[in-house]
Parts: sequence; C-alpha cells; structure tokens
Amino acid sequence: MRVAILGATGAVGRTMLQVLEERGFPADEVQPLASARSAGTTLRWRGRDWTVRMPGPGAFLGCELALFSAGAARSREWGPRAAAEGALVVDNSSAWRMDPAVPLVVPEVNGAALRERPLGIIANPNCATIQLVLPLAALHQAAGLTRVLVTTFQSVSGAGHRGETALDAELAGGHSPDTPFPGPIAGNVIPWIGPRGADGWNEEERKVREETRKILELPELRVAATCVRVPVRVGHSIAATVELARPLAPAAARAALQAWPGISAPDTGADPLPRDVAGTDLVQIGHLRADPDDPRVLHLWIVADNLRKGAATNAVQIAERLVEPAGGRP
Ligand SMILES: NC(=O)c1ccc[n+]([C@@H]2O[C@H](COP(=O)([O-])OP(=O)(O)OC[C@H]3O[C@@H](n4cnc5c(N)ncnc54)[C@H](OP(=O)(O)O)[C@@H]3O)[C@@H](O)[C@H]2O)c1
Repeated sequence: MRVAILGATGAVGRTMLQVLEERGFPADEVQPLASARSAGTTLRWRGRDWTVRMPGPGAFLGCELALFSAGAARSREWGPRAAAEGALVVDNSSAWRMDPAVPLVVPEVNGAALRERPLGIIANPNCATIQLVLPLAALHQAAGLTRVLVTTFQSVSGAGHRGETALDAELAGGHSPDTPFPGPIAGNVIPWIGPRGADGWNEEERKVREETRKILELPELRVAATCVRVPVRVGHSIAATVELARPLAPAAARAALQAWPGISAPDTGADPLPRDVAGTDLVQIGHLRADPDDPRVLHLWIVADNLRKGAATNAVQIAERLVEPAGGRP
C-alpha cells in the first residue's frame, strides 16, 4: 500500500511518519508532499529516503490513503482531488470537521462513525478536543454529562514548527519574526488561540465546543472553553469541570476512566505533566476530585501529547480502522 502524506515536513507530518513506522502500519511506500520550500528534500522512513514533492494533478494516484496536515486551505484544495484520485483522506485540519457529510472521529469514542464517509474524507478533531472527549465519553457513560467547562494550557508545538521556533528564539534571548503568537510566549501565557470573533470567543474555543458536541453526538451539551497558549514545547493540559446528571464519587469516576480505552488514570497521587506525557499516546488523567458544593460535579486534569494522540496517532488509528475493518488496534 502507498500512503501520501501532505504536510510531511511539518510538526504533525513528521510525527505521522514516525507513528506509521512505530505501529507497523501495513504500507510499503510513502509519498511525502509539502510546499515548494521543501520540494526535492528527503525524509527518512523505514530506513529509506523518500523525496518530498509538491502536490499536483495525479499526486494521489496509486495511493490508497492520504494523511493531510498542511492547513485548512490546502485540505480544501486537495481533499476532494485526492478522493477523486482514489485515496481515502484523513485530514488533520479544521477544513472539513463540521461538515455533516464528514465523520469527525476519535476511534475510542465514535469509531463507528467511520462507516459513513460519502466524500471519502474523514476529519481528525482539534488536538485539545481529542484529549477532552475521551474522559468525557467515559464520564457520560457512567453518569450522563450535563455541562463541561474547561481551561486549556496548550503547548507551542500546537502552532506547528513556527511555534516551536518562536519559543526557542525567545528562550535564547531573541525574537522570531515569523512567530504565530500575538506577543512574547517565553515566560508568558496568552489567552488567544486563533482569531477572536465579534462575540469575544477565540477560534480554538469555538472548535472545542462544536467538535465536542459533534463527536459525543450531544448537540445541546453545554460546553465552554478558555484556551490558553503556554511556553511548553509539547503536551497540552486541560483543567476540566464536569457536571453530571447523577452524583459520581471520584473513586467510581476513576474506575470508569481507567476502564476506557486510550486513558490512563492511575490512583498514584502523582499528577500527569506535559513533560512526562510527551512522546506517549495515552490521555492521562490526574487531580481528580469532587466538587466541595455539588456531588454531581467533578474536577479533573487531562494531559496528552498534542502531536501524537492530539494529531498523528489519532489519524493513524483512524487509518488502521479503514484498512483493517475488523477494528484495527486501539
Ligand atoms: N501541531 C499540532 O499539535 C496539531 C494538532 C492537530 C492538528 N493540527 C493541524 O495539522 C496541520 C499542520 O500542523 P503542523 O503543526 O504540522 O504545522 P507545520 O509544522 O507548520 O507544518 C505545515 C506543513 O504544511 C506544509 N505546507 C505549507 N504550505 C503548503 C503548500 N502550499 N502546499 C503543500 N504543503 C504545504 C508545510 O510544508 P513546508 O515544510 O514545505 O513549508 C509543512 O509540511 C494544521 O492544519 C493544524 O491545524 C496540528
């Protein structure tokens, strides 16, 4: 099988190559695609150098699968063309996520949604949303969700290579002219991820609300997020307050979380931290406690690697289910 990777030279694209190799994905060949900046360079995969090309007519012919992580504009342009050339598209951008004809999938939560894919395009959710919906699904099954309030602490790699370069430059005492952030990020926190609408909500905050509702199939769920960029290289953290239909003791909640695929919620007393989860694939839960005033409310801390489970690993898990309809691996 041949797999095209659009955006292969980016933060997510490079991680996708790594995850495909680590998980022994049943592909023989990859076709890395990127911008003119990288065309002609090579990327290493399974001990071989693969030449990066620019996407163009015919670029996806002969590819059963295309993994996209080159931004929404490229996904809108190339998604339908790749599908027309015979590739199933798994797209990491926001381009198709809210399209009713496109499944938005976290395999451990709504893998069954993969069956209906009329456009031949499947969307990978936003990174913060992926790590949020896993514990929400477990708690919903245990006691019914009624309201979710979150504050996210999102790493600079969530803004791609430019984000990591900006932090590096500032930590070295300089400044990156190409920074994706609206102000200094080293020694700072910035409550701005994506453009702010007239209603005061940032784009990332809208994505967390809308995508969570779509994945959980709870279109009326009350969800609100405050999304914050923090000077962490890799790993997003979320402080969540979850209101349930019925009281749920922390021990029972922990058991429900621990039993859910893709989650680690050990009762060790140690809180998961982004530096520790970087390079891993589980969504890790800690600092789980009952609300002091309401037995239907829980507070928890959720951490995951945004480049892996928040992007590449989730996309490869989707791809595994597409090529191994028996379900692939968790
Ligand atoms: N970073 C995360 O944690 C994360 C998580 C979930 C989803 N995503 C989504 O994944 C996508 C990529 O994010 P990233 O963080 O990997 O960004 P990135 O590091 O900036 O990488 C962007 C990639 O897109 C390629 N590209 C840019 N313009 C192109 C063009 N005109 N034609 C073809 N390729 C082009 C780049 O190629 P060159 O190297 O040649 O410029 C590079 O390979 C975005 O849609 C993002 O929203 C990111």
